[in-house]
Amino acid sequence: MQQPNRQPTDPRYTPPSKFVQTRKQMIEAINEAVRFVRSRSSMQPRVGVILGSGLGDVVDALEVETAIPYSEIPGARASTVVGHQGRMILAHVQGTPVVVMQGRIHFYEGYEMAEVMFLSRVIGRLGIEKLIVTNAAGGINTKFQAGDLMLISDHINMMGMNPLRGPNIDDLGVRFPDMSEAYPESLRDIAKDVARELGQLIQEGVYLALSGPSYETPAEIRALRHLGADAVGMSTVPEVIAMSQMQIPVLGISCITNMAAGILKQKLTHQEVMDTTARVQKDFTALVLGCLQRFTA
Ligand code: HPA
Repeated sequence: MQQPNRQPTDPRYTPPSKFVQTRKQMIEAINEAVRFVRSRSSMQPRVGVILGSGLGDVVDALEVETAIPYSEIPGARASTVVGHQGRMILAHVQGTPVVVMQGRIHFYEGYEMAEVMFLSRVIGRLGIEKLIVTNAAGGINTKFQAGDLMLISDHINMMGMNPLRGPNIDDLGVRFPDMSEAYPESLRDIAKDVARELGQLIQEGVYLALSGPSYETPAEIRALRHLGADAVGMSTVPEVIAMSQMQIPVLGISCITNMAAGILKQKLTHQEVMDTTARVQKDFTALVLGCLQRFTA
């Protein structure tokens, strides 16, 4: 329906939604970004990696061919969070072509879900066969401790919205994607083998996503534990739902950067999150690289 042409100073003025796009505009924006990335590199990545807060050092171990700041990719948004670099990197790991997103954008930054999923869809359309998605998360399971790495066995979406709400982009997949095996056991088994070979203890559990950006209250954490969550964070679910729609299997790895609110007698800070990711960076990088090699062997 056409809105009456009111000025923003008019109390009856309703601002247009920031991201009203038709499905044609959305797929065209994704395709344009794909064409742009292909114009910068002819590499055909086989696996994608999304690196979460403070977990960007994996990139140091890659033979980087092309690094593209998100700001240069048409349609992409820049991350505003400390610890997120905001570059798409095309690289080789022992001969295998991969695409790495060093840093992500989050729903809590104020972006629309279509914007949060945008680059995942772009790397999906670049033709990746699998995605490794990583994040920093708070530990809800009291058997965990800060510094543990957790394979995501499943997720609970409590971001308050399903990211696929809105017109379905049929070119990407079906209206009602199946989510029963978003994080296939076969990929987790490979990751467990890699961890065993590296002598790493690895946890496994359910990741629950809230929109953030405030951390949870102790009462919320108790409630979330009853719901079956082992870890809590503010990301990942939109990207994984986008992958499920595109039928791309995901391995999810959470770095438990802190115990969730109320478990320990201490306050939560982003600094603790960054300090823990720095502490486990070496183990985390070894696990991701090992999985990348095994996924393409
Ligand atoms: N809660 C939510 N998100 C997080 C946390 C947390 O405790 N730690 C790292 N990301």
